[in-house]
Amino acid sequence: MRVLVAYGSKMGGTRGVAEMLGADLADLGYEVDVRPAKETTDIEPYEAVIVGGALYYFVSWHKDARAFLKRHRAALRQRPVWLFSSGPLDESATQKEIPPVRSVRKEIDHVGARGHVTFGGRLEEKSGSLPLGDWRDPEHVRRWAEAIAGELAASGSVD
Ligand SMILES: Cc1cc2nc3c(=O)[nH]c(=O)nc-3n(C[C@H](O)[C@H](O)[C@H](O)COP(=O)(O)O)c2cc1C
Repeated sequence: MRVLVAYGSKMGGTRGVAEMLGADLADLGYEVDVRPAKETTDIEPYEAVIVGGALYYFVSWHKDARAFLKRHRAALRQRPVWLFSSGPLDESATQKEIPPVRSVRKEIDHVGARGHVTFGGRLEEKSGSLPLGDWRDPEHVRRWAEAIAGELAASGSVD
């Protein structure tokens, strides 16, 4: 089964999460493409799609991820879709389930996404008083990849 992991990332942190997820899904036997959401124009070849976006300013998901969902809404509604956000610059994302921000919640409804997760973020360059560090957790990503694989296996590729 061919799976697309598309991401919207400003500083590369979310791209890294997308790459971890892609590698995990490949380990689990899927054929995976990991691509920038902005450059992905054709999703017809994919039987399942995962879209990730970086979180900025409490409310917004990276614009490339939002534009991707809008552009492909009709095709996405016909496929199993999962969304992820990456952002919190602390341990919170591994300690508890962080619900999607409002704009992402709307996207979940629009495409009929099967699930959403928030992963920790990474910040390497000083920005105001935000802490620098990397809170992306490969184990967290791995568990989510396994959950997705479990659901896909249970339902086949039929939505
Ligand atoms: C100006 C700024 C605003 C941010 N706002 C949020 C936010 O509202 N919520 C959050 O969880 N993370 C926030 N973050 C953290 C980023 O989401 C985190 O650094 C993320 O990993 C960036 O992803 P990227 O490298 O793919 O762009 C913010 C970071 C910056 C620099």
